[in-house]
Amino acid sequence: MKDRFGRGIDYIRFSITDRCNLRCRYCMPDGVGLERHENLLTYEEFLQVAAAAVRLGITRFKVTGGEPLVRRGCTEFIARLKSLPGVEQVTLTTNGVLLAPLAPRLAALGLDGVNISLDAADPADFTAITGFDQYARVLEGLEASLAAGLKTKLNCVLLPGCEGRVLTLARFAQDRPVDVRFIEVMPIGEGARTPGPDREAVLHILKERWPDLHPVEEIRGNGPAHYYASGGLTGRIGLIDAVSHKFCERCNRVRLTSTGLLKPCLCYGEGTDLRALLRGGKNDLDTLTEALQQAIWNKPRAHCFDDAAAITEQKKMSEIGG
Ligand code: GTP
Ligand code: 5AD
Ligand code: SF4
Repeated sequence: MKDRFGRGIDYIRFSITDRCNLRCRYCMPDGVGLERHENLLTYEEFLQVAAAAVRLGITRFKVTGGEPLVRRGCTEFIARLKSLPGVEQVTLTTNGVLLAPLAPRLAALGLDGVNISLDAADPADFTAITGFDQYARVLEGLEASLAAGLKTKLNCVLLPGCEGRVLTLARFAQDRPVDVRFIEVMPIGEGARTPGPDREAVLHILKERWPDLHPVEEIRGNGPAHYYASGGLTGRIGLIDAVSHKFCERCNRVRLTSTGLLKPCLCYGEGTDLRALLRGGKNDLDTLTEALQQAIWNKPRAHCFDDAAAITEQKKMSEIGG
């Protein structure tokens, strides 16, 4: 459906858990304040929301977290979501730690893509950023994902001082069909305290190494990334520049947190409490559809990352799902 600004909304992000097996320093360094399990929507409840979303023309679904693969039954949930009538695409965003053994099954059930978060290009850096010595397992996850034939991208957040890692991370796109996306840190949760370089700084570094790097108009996902190609790279370089360049006029999405808050925009804490509807006896498809419709219609025009006082989102990124 269209919102009041005429934007077509056809994509929803489901954060299925706020838990994570890493402690990225820009996201949840201390890990406190996790939700009780009974406060999380059940998979049944997510599927009820999905059925309502489909009625409004939302056909593409992102499964995210926290770390989605730490929630028991995630793979089967993805299988059920994927086979729901009207669902055209399901993709997963994961830190990759638990991915390797699951990749063949995910490919077999028809998962349409995997985005792996990887902010470091060597084990020591990885441990310093995430708090855990799991670099090797993430790389195994990446290899397994490619071997299973899954469309695979890397998400690299541009942390302060990351300039020295940009080329090493970009090299993942050199010999393999992996898109490497650099993401400006958004001032949400801990991110507000860790502003990093912007897209221009990264492009400058990349162009010194691959001078023919040039923008391409290809659509390579649902997201806001701008892609660049080079004769020296098999995959593409992506830039997600939410802070330096607003892309809100093309926004196509809403988010559902693990506790059932339907969030029309990343920047604001406000949302519609779908859990209250689902558990308050008003959980018929028409009521849910209406609640979604109203929230989408009232989606804010744009984020306000440039005005810290106006950002009303107080939750951590791990509660929102990126
Ligand atoms: P693809 O369809 O695979 O391209 O997915 P995606 O880029 O939408 O999703 P992913 O989960 O990989 O998110 C990558 C980064 O983009 C994360 O840091 C998200 O927080 C950020 N992002 C995704 N959607 C939005 C959005 O609507 N607004 C802003 N500001 N950032 C977003
Ligand atoms: N700004 C930008 N991206 C972030 N992510 C987590 N926190 C932030 C932030 N403050 C990224 C994760 C993951 C994706 C879902 O969001 O690294 O790749
Ligand atoms: Fe976990 Fe992702 Fe947050 Fe890192 S950024 S702690 S991997 S949820």
